[in-house]
Amino acid sequence: MQKSKYEKAAWPYVAHVSKDETSLIYELINLLEKKLRLRVSSSNQKPIGLATGRTMQPIYKQLVSRLSSWKQSDLEALRSGWCSFNLDEYVGLEKSHPNSFSSFMRRNLAEPLGFDQSKVHLPNGMSKDLILEANNYSRLLKSSGGIGLQLLGLGVNGHIGFNEPPCDIASGCHLVTLSASTRQQNVKDFSGGITSVPLKAITLGISDILSSQEIHLVVTGEHKAEILRTLLHSEPIGEIPASWLKVHNNVHLWADKSAMDYP
Ligand code: GLP
Repeated sequence: MQKSKYEKAAWPYVAHVSKDETSLIYELINLLEKKLRLRVSSSNQKPIGLATGRTMQPIYKQLVSRLSSWKQSDLEALRSGWCSFNLDEYVGLEKSHPNSFSSFMRRNLAEPLGFDQSKVHLPNGMSKDLILEANNYSRLLKSSGGIGLQLLGLGVNGHIGFNEPPCDIASGCHLVTLSASTRQQNVKDFSGGITSVPLKAITLGISDILSSQEIHLVVTGEHKAEILRTLLHSEPIGEIPASWLKVHNNVHLWADKSAMDYP
């Protein structure tokens, strides 16, 4: 494997490994709840970076359940100060399409918590000028203060967001052609088979992700064990997009035992 010229931080900054997904998510929700309480008590908070995917589904479910037990006034304060930016969106799907990431966020987070949709930002994959849309999304994120806490999942080919291998550490928000393996990974969500999975997406780039103050990478399930092993052993290189996280000095890795259990 090619050597990287980038220096590794002490990585991960913290590894949280739990016996199963349920206890892992419980711990993660405890931390997220603390961070969200801070948002309520302080007005000067950076946007939250959000991800979609199967890994995130049970996390949002538990988060919704935890936040629903908050005092109404606290929940109302969280709602009014909410500002999040998602990593990515498919190109060519209407916001209302059941497989758009916009719909995913509405179903899994915004609607159950009564968040104003306009505070849950995602790129517009239906824009007539997708490159301009990517630039505008990036600009809006920067002018909103950049990401504070970023939640991340991991693709089986090592992608984060939709940064497909090989990818550049300096990349900003951009239009991307999805790899065959990513479209295959996500086909389960589409009733129309592989041809109904979009060919392109808009994604925040590695440099946007690395600008976050803290990053929480969540990896669960046996099917992620191989890529997680590769990631843990890798230098920071473009062939494994998530390995760029190794130059960041505040990455928390959250893994259950089946993802972490490797020889
Ligand atoms: C998707 C998304 C990523 C996600 C990753 C893992 O395609 N673009 O944001 O984190 O792949 O997905 P999953 O959690 O479904 O395995």
